[in-house]
Order: sequence, then C-alpha cells, then structure tokens
Amino acid sequence: MKLAVFVSGKGTNLLNIIKKHEEGFLKSEVGLVISNHDCEAIESSTRAGIQTKVADPKSFASEVEFGNSILDALKKSEVDFVVLAGFLKKVPEVVVKNFENRVINIHPALLPSFGGKGMYGMKVHQAVIDAGCKVSGATVHIVDAEYDHGPIVLQRCVPVSGDDTPESLASKIHQLEYELLPEAIKLFEENRVKVEGRKARFFLS
Ligand code: GAR
Repeated sequence: MKLAVFVSGKGTNLLNIIKKHEEGFLKSEVGLVISNHDCEAIESSTRAGIQTKVADPKSFASEVEFGNSILDALKKSEVDFVVLAGFLKKVPEVVVKNFENRVINIHPALLPSFGGKGMYGMKVHQAVIDAGCKVSGATVHIVDAEYDHGPIVLQRCVPVSGDDTPESLASKIHQLEYELLPEAIKLFEENRVKVEGRKARFFLS
C-alpha cells in the first residue's frame, strides 16, 4: 500500500513507520505526509525526500474546501491508505467517506476512555493519572466521523505507577506505539481486517 501519514508534531511514529518499511517489516511505503502546520514531522519528511503537504483548515473558506484539497492530494499521490500519527485536527468528512475503513488513528490511551475532542498528547496522560488509573495504553482504531470513535483494531496496555508523570507515561506509551501501529498497518496490507458494524475483527495468517 502507498501510505499517507497525517501529523501535527514531532513525528516519531512517522519515522518509525519509515524504519519498519526499510527493515522489511512493512511492505507499505510512506508516499505523502500531510500536516495542518509546519512542524518537526514535516521537516524530517522533507529531509527524507518524502512529498509533503501543509494545509491549515483555517486558511480555507470552508471545511468542504479543506476536505477537497486533502482528498485531491491523496488522489494525486495515488494513496491507498491513511495513517493518523499524532494528527490533532479532525479528518474531513469527504476523506473519511472516500477512504472508508482505510483511515486509522493511533491514540495514546485505552479507548473509549480518555478520547474525544481536545484529548491529545500530555492532556490524555494527565487525565489518566488524575483518574488514578492503574493501566493505560495505546489504541489503533479505524477513523469515522467522530473523534477517537471508530472500530478498535488493536490495543495494548502498560502499568501506571504511583510516581508516573505525564512525561514518563507518554514515553512508555510511545514505546508501545512503535510496535502497535506498524502491526496494525501490516494487518491491513495483508487484507486481514474485516469490519462488522462497530467491531473490527482480524484473521490470523
Ligand atoms: C502519539 O503518542 C499519538 O498517540 C498521539 O500523539 C503522539 C504523537 O507523537 N496522538 C494523539 O494524542 C491523538 N489524539 P509523535 O508525533 O512523536 O508520533
């Protein structure tokens, strides 16, 4: 599959996907990186010679125009599959519709808890700690019209200890994500995911 990765920050998950392709774990290759603003992930992609697009929703007259511009870029680059790796904006409806069950997101907590609009990065980890949770983790899910809502593909947990800070928890969860996200992409590239209503099932090879 040719992948588009949507990013808004550092892009360590993006770099990890590129590495997993170079190592041969993934057949899929990143062909396009899209962000809502200039960020470290865009800089690394440019350095790696990957095509990039920066599209700030606020600079478009409407959400529809923003969506069409993203969809156009995906089509021009012949993208098969979209991965949100730290993308902090809502994916336009027209993209979700055109890429039905072909857009996934990684979220740094165990959904359906600690997700939704405004729940990203350190805010998620702080909320998990404030709630006194004993475990947290990462979730890969298919993207639908709502934030952090579509069918769950993979989840994995880490223990939360009494002296964890949002930063230490983020670091543990990032390590999980570097395994979980490539594993999820691989399930799709091998055509092993079937979506039935709210549930995504996968088949062993
Ligand atoms: C990741 O931990 C990802 O789960 C999170 O942003 C981080 C991006 O890190 N995503 C969200 O919070 C989305 N709700 P990275 O830029 O180093 O890959």
